[in-house]
Amino acid sequence: MVKSFKTFLKHTAKDFHNQSVNPPVVRASTIIFKSMKHIRKTQKKAQKNPVGGHYDYGRQGTSTTYILQKILTKLEDSYHVFTTPTGFGSVFLAIFSVVRPGDEIIAADPVYSPTRVLTQDFLKEFNIKTIFYNPHDLKTLERSITKKTKLIFVENPGSNTFDFQDLGKIVSIAKKYKILTAIDNTWGTPYYLKPIKLGFDMSIVSATKYYSGHSDVMGGSLAVNKKVFQKVKAAEKITGLRLGPDDAYLITRGLRTLDVRLDRHRENAKKIAAFLSKNKKITLLYPFKKNSMNFRMWKKYYSGASGLMGLKIKSNNINSVRKFVNSLKLFGYGYSWGGFESLVLHQEFRETGNRKFMNLAKDEHLVRFHIGLEDPNDLIADIKQALRHLK
Ligand SMILES: Cc1ncc(COP(=O)(O)O)c(C=O)c1O
Repeated sequence: MVKSFKTFLKHTAKDFHNQSVNPPVVRASTIIFKSMKHIRKTQKKAQKNPVGGHYDYGRQGTSTTYILQKILTKLEDSYHVFTTPTGFGSVFLAIFSVVRPGDEIIAADPVYSPTRVLTQDFLKEFNIKTIFYNPHDLKTLERSITKKTKLIFVENPGSNTFDFQDLGKIVSIAKKYKILTAIDNTWGTPYYLKPIKLGFDMSIVSATKYYSGHSDVMGGSLAVNKKVFQKVKAAEKITGLRLGPDDAYLITRGLRTLDVRLDRHRENAKKIAAFLSKNKKITLLYPFKKNSMNFRMWKKYYSGASGLMGLKIKSNNINSVRKFVNSLKLFGYGYSWGGFESLVLHQEFRETGNRKFMNLAKDEHLVRFHIGLEDPNDLIADIKQALRHLK
């Protein structure tokens, strides 16, 4: 019987041994064996089948982390998925696995700001140069390729400005020049976009966000194809960047309802977007307006949209923008999105960083909404009362 992924998420990872519908949390630093002979047997199995869940030491994982990796590998349609203690750990692992001193990276200008600091500043100290491309002009990407280019790092959509890029074109440029590719797919998750199927070598998701869904756990996942698997495995081993079993359990629990929550985030976000689109001071940074470039690029690759959106607000009165944000009652002020609750942020320089291709006029201000799972009518009523302050 062919099961849809929605059904798979509900029925997977049962524990028939203990007769429980959820898997146990196996915590172990020491894995014990009957004898030295049995240790060697396990090590041989691990060598023969490196994705098979054969461990001889707690840092390699336990059955709890292995179950999560197996679920995510299916969701990603990938060769394997590595799990890390944070989403940013997966960003680091992807880059560290394939880039060496003397190499160059080409990264999307609107990457998540810690990713920018890592590539632009930190890696520079290791003689690794990063060039940033304009997400709306891929000629700036192709022009930046040199013999030293090792990796193209994409984030889609771009952080804060929500730029949707031509992902297929990026993959074909990378293949033409034999360059590896990585994408941060936290916004869409593989529920809406499967980057490995599209041809990316590595795909990152911050599991802290929609996977866990309840704002109480941190984690990251890095899906890979066969080509880069050994490189990432070696880097994972040497850095010890592995997720613990308690966090793996919570993320597995969150995944049970990933589809239900994301569908609801999408429906709520659509209603809020429809309401906001009537306001002349606001330009929506969300795939909503049918004839926009962002909409076309989103539609081309995604099967749905999540709950994170940007608002570009035109106003000569920054205090009124602040007042609008501060008057919201149902939207908390906070960074880590993807949970059940709605959030708001006024995106100032600290959030957007020193981008090269962001043209924001003096009277334009960025506000980010994460649309949660509340009743959308309540959210609209809240936004309506706060909008009275916008001048
Ligand atoms: C797009 C994106 N990638 C990666 C991360 C990092 O994830 P984590 O907070 O789990 O380290 C974030 C966090 O906000 C993010 O927004």
